[in-house]
Order: sequence, then C-alpha cells, then structure tokens
Amino acid sequence: MSFKPGSTTTPTVIPATTSAASLPASPEQAEHHLNAVDQAIISRQSMREFLPTAVPHALLELLLELASRAPSGTNTQPWKVYVLQGNSRDGLVAKVCEAHDALRAQPELAAVYKEAYDYYPEKWVSPYIDRRRENGWGLYGLLGIGKGDKDKMHLQHQRNFRFFDAPVGLMFTLDRVMGRGSLVDYGMFLQNIMVAARGHGLHTCPQAAWNGFSSIILPHIGAGPDEMLVCGMALGYADESALVNTFRTPRVSASEFSVWLE
Ligand SMILES: Cc1cc2nc3c(=O)[nH]c(=O)nc-3n(C[C@H](O)[C@H](O)[C@H](O)COP(=O)(O)O)c2cc1C
Repeated sequence: MSFKPGSTTTPTVIPATTSAASLPASPEQAEHHLNAVDQAIISRQSMREFLPTAVPHALLELLLELASRAPSGTNTQPWKVYVLQGNSRDGLVAKVCEAHDALRAQPELAAVYKEAYDYYPEKWVSPYIDRRRENGWGLYGLLGIGKGDKDKMHLQHQRNFRFFDAPVGLMFTLDRVMGRGSLVDYGMFLQNIMVAARGHGLHTCPQAAWNGFSSIILPHIGAGPDEMLVCGMALGYADESALVNTFRTPRVSASEFSVWLE
C-alpha cells in the first residue's frame, strides 16, 4: 500500500482487529455497536514484546501522514519524528543499554542523565501513586519479578532500551521555544499514531523511559540543540503470545471522573 503526502486518494480502510480486552459489558454499551474507530481505540494497549517482522516503509509513511491530522493550537503542528530502523536503531540500543548498565553501577551518574521536562510529579500523592504501584507491581508480578529481584527488574526495565525488540523505534522532539501547550498537541499526535497503527494490525508502546538519556539520543539521531526529547515509541507487530503482552490495565469508569452539569 502506498499513500503519497497530499494525495487526494482515500487510503483503504482496514477494519481493526480487537485483541485487547473489550469494554465491560453493560446494558448501555450493549446498545451501541463498536465500530472500527472504537475497536482501534480499545485494542490499543502497550505491548512489550515484538516480532522481528519488518514494517513496510509505505505503511510507516501512512501512519505519520494520518497522525499529522491531529489538531494543534493555531495549527502549530509542533511535532518532529525520527524513525529509527536497522543500524540507527541498533546503534542507539547499544549506547543506551550501556549507559543504563553504567547508571546502575554508579548511581551518582543520575546527575548526568536528567529529563528535559518533568513528565512525572516530583511528589507523588494518592490516587496517582496507588495506580502507579498497581501498574508496576502488576506487570512485574505477571513476569514473576518480586520486590527484591533487582537484577530482573533492571533487565525488564532495559527491555525499554531495546524497543522491546520492535524493528521500528520512534523518537519525538519538540522545539524548545514552544510552550507547555505543545505537549497537549503532542499527546494527540502520539495517540493518532498508536490508534492508526491498530487499524493496520500494528502495536506500539509509548516510552518516557528514554527521556533521561536525551544527551545520548539527541546527538545520535542528529537533533539540534533547539530540540527537546518528548518521548520514544516502539512500533511493530506484537508477539501476541508473549506473557508480558497479556498484561491488561484497568481504568476508572467515566462515571467516576465525569461531573455532569445542567
Ligand atoms: C507518554 C507515555 C510514556 C510511557 N512510557 C512508558 C515506558 O517508558 N515504558 C513502558 O513500559 N510503558 C510506558 N508507557 C505505557 C503506560 O505504562 C501505559 O500506557 C499504561 O500503563 C496504560 O496501559 P495501556 O497502554 O496498556 O492501556 C507510557 C505511556 C505514555 C502515554
């Protein structure tokens, strides 16, 4: 399949396959048919084990063209994407895994590996800390990693820096002159990539884990000093039989986070 930028041809719509948990059955939901968009949204989950199957170049281009339809304040379109495959991908994996190992051996190196922006709060409070713990220990528990298994934890965390074996690694940067609102725009762009990927049988894992290593990543990808690393993302065909990919995350129901006013 090919899709040329600016083409007026509508790309073929392939119905999304639902491999993730469906929305909980309830009488209200049963009244509604889940269309292809709904299915692409609910079948997106963070996958952490990928097959080596190559992703066609034209499909990667299509995903990025689709993602570019994301809205952004005054249409600023603040995104810039680096697509890493082959040697560029493998070279970055080698460099960051080495740095990650060194950081474990010498924790004082943490001062060198700082994130450019505070993705997470400095001080964690409930209910966010509870959800974070449930998520982390849920994943490690599934993999049989206990609280004292520091080696296993390190290795599992390092899977991030191998893009979970996905053949495609994406790095996203933002011009440092832009404001915080551009990160709102960026989230929509990232979600577009992830949902569009589902429509074509692909899976993703968005990754903030890379952010601390931007001093290695930015020169490796050829980004200028005016660019800030927003996050990375693994993209490819998931190994659906892998234990780690059976991990499903809960959500607070809409009735709990919505306030209806009349
Ligand atoms: C911006 C962003 C960064 C994330 N960074 C990581 C990461 O570095 N490593 C990882 O394994 N998961 C990462 N995640 C995935 C979250 O843990 C995941 O989205 C959340 O637990 C909900 O699960 P789900 O994506 O399967 O629905 C990230 C998610 C987002 C949106």
